[in-house]
Amino acid sequence: MNIKMTKITESVTYAGVLNPGMRTFDVIMHTEYGTSYNSYVVDGSEKTAIIEASHISFGNAYKGIIDEALGGKTPDYLILNHTEPDHSGCVKQVVQWFPYIEIVCTKAASIYLKNITNNDSLNFKIVKTGDELDLGGKTLQFYAAPFLHWPDSMFTYLPQDKVAFTCDFLGSHYCEPQVFDTDVTYPKKYIDSLKNYYDCIFAPFKPYVLSGLDILNSLDVEIVCPSHGPVLTSGGNLNTVKDAYLEWSTVVERENVLIPIFYCSAYGNTKKIAQAVQKGILQIFPNAECETYNIKNHNIAELAGLLNGCDAFLLGPLTINRDVVPPIWQLLAHADAINMAKRSVALFGSFGWSGEGFAHTAMRLQQLKCNLYDEQFKVNFVPTEEDLANAVAFGKRFAQTV
Ligand code: FEO
Repeated sequence: MNIKMTKITESVTYAGVLNPGMRTFDVIMHTEYGTSYNSYVVDGSEKTAIIEASHISFGNAYKGIIDEALGGKTPDYLILNHTEPDHSGCVKQVVQWFPYIEIVCTKAASIYLKNITNNDSLNFKIVKTGDELDLGGKTLQFYAAPFLHWPDSMFTYLPQDKVAFTCDFLGSHYCEPQVFDTDVTYPKKYIDSLKNYYDCIFAPFKPYVLSGLDILNSLDVEIVCPSHGPVLTSGGNLNTVKDAYLEWSTVVERENVLIPIFYCSAYGNTKKIAQAVQKGILQIFPNAECETYNIKNHNIAELAGLLNGCDAFLLGPLTINRDVVPPIWQLLAHADAINMAKRSVALFGSFGWSGEGFAHTAMRLQQLKCNLYDEQFKVNFVPTEEDLANAVAFGKRFAQTV
């Protein structure tokens, strides 16, 4: 399904492909509203550039729309702001269609692209912040934008038309046949998809998001052309979306420390220890946000928010048949591995036979590069009053390390 060719400005033409049926992106992201793979053609008086390509599954549709947008011209450049295969999947075909095309990208992108296309003889033009490309009356300026959202990412700016091409940044997995934000039929669904997109793609990279906004705000931009979802305009959603990214990426200082205690408990023994540990923590931090969470009784997204936003946490793993029970793995599968390094964590709980769950969980926490407290508080089967008093003391000791 194609969008019909659409003029963005006098020199910029939209040439994207729609994928309304996509329901999962990158394995982990649910995409209720499909997506678009946005590509653009920029015409100067002497040269023509394509910005972004498309997903390999849509090569034929992409060829149709890009030919229409080129209007018989042969493109000189393919600007790749980012090389994830939803944009670079068609590069192999693009270089077959246009054998003399020069691929303009960052150094990191060129390395990735060789291995994405399995082609060592691509014709690269490596650019960095400050570099420009003259198309004849139209200039493309490049700004490195690492980790938005891969290390390869950059923005391309067309000052004469006040247009920025930001690839994934400010985009959305949202699919409507209209190109401009002002024509979106279901604005609430669009905003929902924008937030979901931010949470899944950009939330781990908040400092880089703020840097990306700084770049855009330093330029005179009236239109942002992302690689997914509607084109953003100053008369439409551009400022709303930038403000949302700013709000979502600004870390608000908490008044009190947040130390959630997660656990699983088959017979209530680990639960008792969790409550005792909680008492110990509250003796050190009386105003701490320190609740206990029996994992299976809570929404995993809610717990993931606590896990990824806390100052420190404790985990009570449950062992059954020599392994950790799935809810523990499920919680840790939601850990933001980019930002979990050095997060203080301690393990506690009851075990029956041999308690392998502690070692298995510790290994996962070490993989996440957490700051794992040396001491683990373990009780065989049912904790005594003395055990619970020791658990309080353990909670105090751990809290003093936070
Ligand atoms: Fe749309 Fe990171 O790719």
